Amino acid sequence: MILTDPFQTEEIVPHMTKKRVLTGYRPTGRLTLGHWFGNLMNMRELQEAYEAFYFVADWHALTSDWADTSSVRKFTEEMVLDWVAAGIDPAKATVYRQSDVPEVAELTMYLAMATPMAWLERVPSYKEQREQITDKDLSNAGFFMYPLMMAADILLVRGDVVPVGEDQLPHLELTREITRRFNNTYGDLLTEPAAIIAKQGARVPGTDGRKMSKSYGNAIYLSDTADETSKKVMSMVTDPARKLKTDPGDPDICPLHQIHKLVGRPEDVAEFDRCCRVAECGCVAHKRKLVEDLNDYLASFRQRRLELAASPDYAWEVLADGAERVSPVVDDLMSDVRRALHITAG
Ligand code: TRP
Repeated sequence: MILTDPFQTEEIVPHMTKKRVLTGYRPTGRLTLGHWFGNLMNMRELQEAYEAFYFVADWHALTSDWADTSSVRKFTEEMVLDWVAAGIDPAKATVYRQSDVPEVAELTMYLAMATPMAWLERVPSYKEQREQITDKDLSNAGFFMYPLMMAADILLVRGDVVPVGEDQLPHLELTREITRRFNNTYGDLLTEPAAIIAKQGARVPGTDGRKMSKSYGNAIYLSDTADETSKKVMSMVTDPARKLKTDPGDPDICPLHQIHKLVGRPEDVAEFDRCCRVAECGCVAHKRKLVEDLNDYLASFRQRRLELAASPDYAWEVLADGAERVSPVVDDLMSDVRRALHITAG
């Protein structure tokens, strides 16, 4: 197998003694600077203390993008490259693809038998997204069942903890409710997972000052080239009240400054804070400095990512290896579940 540890980190602690953490991402685009300071930092830390299962949730992507599935494979591959280049170590964490584990579908179905429809109807994100997302048809049963599939993802590997943002908390609560009902009905089979509220990453503004998001078109991608980064930063919004270089600015409301704080040297950041407030320096100079600092900050990530992407099979080898490693974990649970539900031969 190709899976050497690219960072030569210390010896792997035997997995048996560790609790399990699980998280999944929908492959709907490359990862951004926003993901870096929130999710990726957390995932890197968690892979040390826990037995980590990180999966690409490609079936989840289909629940909303069922009408056009053409990008799923490409984004799956990009996700793996982004993860590994960012320090997710496939020798430590089991990195796999949801669709490589067909038992997710099987367990989703068993859970569906024991879940009242009303529980799914009241999931807040369901109502919200049905109302707010108008460019996709979300009237499909798959989208409605999506929280069940998320429960299956977690329960299938007996995940102890799931790092979630606020928006995913109701899904986790539902998973816990389903677990209790299932266990009451069929015996104590499933492990009730706990949420860990992901350590609040820095809020990273996009180039227009709103939250950085692919759907706003304001994202800086980790894998952007230095040139692309430069173009994006040079077109960034700054303090909107600062029309002229001679106007004093307010760094506290300047998105440029917020990003600089995350990637710049503290003394440089402090100096731009000072000179902006007294109108001694202009936004263009600050943008140039951020371009330099941001490109420096991301240089080693980008270098690693290019190296990984140079072997076209790399991501798929990681996923194949992950599928192999998750398989016994899944078999272990599913044989218990099938037996308890009398879905066994003979
Ligand atoms: N629901 C998550 C999202 O939309 C992705 C996801 C799917 C997930 N299954 C999961 C997250 C299991 C944590 C655990 O972003």
